[in-house]
Amino acid sequence: MCGIVGYTGSKKASPIIIEGLRRLEYRGYDSAGIATQEKEGIKIIRSVGKLNNLIEKLSQTTLLGNTGIGHTRWATHGKPSEVNAHPHKAGKFVVVHNGIIENYLSIKNKLVKRGCNFESETDTEVIAHLLWSYYEKSQNTKEAILKTVKELRGSFAIAILNEDEKESIYLVRYESPLVIGVGENENYFASDIPALLVHTNNIIFLKDGDIIKLTPEGYEAFDFNGKKIIRLPEKINLSLSQAEKGGYPHFMLKEIHEQPEAFINTVRTRIKPDTKEVVFDEIPRDIFKKVESIHIIACGTSYHAGLIGRFFLEEIAGLPTLVEIASEFRYKKNFFNSKTLYIFISQSGSTADTLAALKLTKNNKVSTLAICNVLGSSISTEADYTIYTHAGPEIGVASTKAFSTQIAVLFLLSLQFGFYKKAININQLSAFIDSLLKIPKAMEKCLKDSSKIKQLAQKYYHYNNFLYLGRGLNYPLALEGALKLKEISYIHAEAYSAGEMKHGPIALIDENMPVLVINTKSNQHEKTISNIQEVLARNGKVIALISEKDKVTPKYTKDIIEVPQINNYLDCLLSIIPLQLFAYYCAVLKGTDVDQPRNLAKSVTVE
Ligand code: AGP
Repeated sequence: MCGIVGYTGSKKASPIIIEGLRRLEYRGYDSAGIATQEKEGIKIIRSVGKLNNLIEKLSQTTLLGNTGIGHTRWATHGKPSEVNAHPHKAGKFVVVHNGIIENYLSIKNKLVKRGCNFESETDTEVIAHLLWSYYEKSQNTKEAILKTVKELRGSFAIAILNEDEKESIYLVRYESPLVIGVGENENYFASDIPALLVHTNNIIFLKDGDIIKLTPEGYEAFDFNGKKIIRLPEKINLSLSQAEKGGYPHFMLKEIHEQPEAFINTVRTRIKPDTKEVVFDEIPRDIFKKVESIHIIACGTSYHAGLIGRFFLEEIAGLPTLVEIASEFRYKKNFFNSKTLYIFISQSGSTADTLAALKLTKNNKVSTLAICNVLGSSISTEADYTIYTHAGPEIGVASTKAFSTQIAVLFLLSLQFGFYKKAININQLSAFIDSLLKIPKAMEKCLKDSSKIKQLAQKYYHYNNFLYLGRGLNYPLALEGALKLKEISYIHAEAYSAGEMKHGPIALIDENMPVLVINTKSNQHEKTISNIQEVLARNGKVIALISEKDKVTPKYTKDIIEVPQINNYLDCLLSIIPLQLFAYYCAVLKGTDVDQPRNLAKSVTVE
């Protein structure tokens, strides 16, 4: 996912832009660039690789301009190279872009026929040429933008400089996030708020179809028809530390430790403490009455959250629930039902496959709900209803606190559905809420036990393969634990339903294949003990994740991780913490780039 940043005001723009790009590095990138309005025209500096390469180049030149734009690129069209790095120029226009122009080839062919010379392989460059081709005729930047956006198909957050307008930056937002930071006689913009918080917490979340003219004095907002619209800033009470590492060595560790706070922030506005009622103002009440089944669509960790949510929705609310991977859902035959609620879970709110699945679903006139962590993101604005997790910015590429807040929202939804459907009574509802309110403290306890996890990582990090086993909702938990290990430590880890062992995976077991078994209190505890015995009988090594007071499992292995036991549904919120920490410490011991693992991006905005 690319990052874009910009500034216009009385200060020198380049250091502000570079610092903003630094705060967006988590989005994953392979090249970077900056452009500023200088006396002699717009100057562009670009480089491949990390930001330090760009800074090195900047040290050999002088950028004095007080209006500029910057970009970190995660290649989608055209390999990582300087010529493909943004910003791109055509005529007097310089642009940076986050998103995908799906019809760029047809536009490019048309422009080439008209004699336009393209230097890059990117889709973005067509935007600069389109703007210039329209501006040459109208000499009006706003007109040129209105004509250009009408031709574009896909997702785009664009920042535009025109050499004829030294102190203006034009912004366009369509299905790719863009936020403005309003200062005193200076204004900022970025793809995400961590780049702005050091300057201001007066933030405007642009919406799809917004065009902004940004100047040091202020901003004007238009829609794609050129009609003036109103966009007002809101105070975002995320201090910068929330977007910084806060003393932890990695964002991921900070975010693992933020889970109690993230959980509280997500839950507290949704439970009336006195009456213990669940409150979802974001969804009309009749939805809770009308809906007869649930269909969850997501990717990666969010998909695993959906698989866990299915247990809540089916067993507490009595709602048949399907959970599917977005990239599969969008290409298979689907049977849409007006009595089904389609839930799209996405931390970033900009995952291409999930967004595409949501749009495909919306075309079938059914109700859609997004569970998102990023305000104003594409998926959150596209869905009929949106419930925001309040995990705060999740910077580490490996999703942690977003996962636990997604589980919290799914649990609360199950309680609300269960209560409206009379699947649970007021006493059961109250008991579930009491359990829920015990989770943050229990999470803190799990976080305090991290030294034991560190020791286990020390003992196991050198293995090349791992098996994760679990039954019931411990199976999707095993999937999530395995994903964490593989995506940040690069150790191959596979998760299986423990009952599946005898159907093949048991052939893998030997002294080189450690097995992490999640065996917290459940109605399959004993059966999972037999699976542990099967592994041990074949010289396998077992790490067992169990509930406190379990006296049976420790008879079989000394490598034990204990978590508090609160409620069979909610214990997964405790078990996930040692699984995240185990992956984290293994990765640190292996020296991988924990916050930005190789080949990964924080949000996969491409197919
Ligand atoms: C999770 O650790 C991974 N980084 C990845 O699987 C992620 O969950 C997936 O890409 C979905 O992202 P989203 O929640 O932002 O849609």
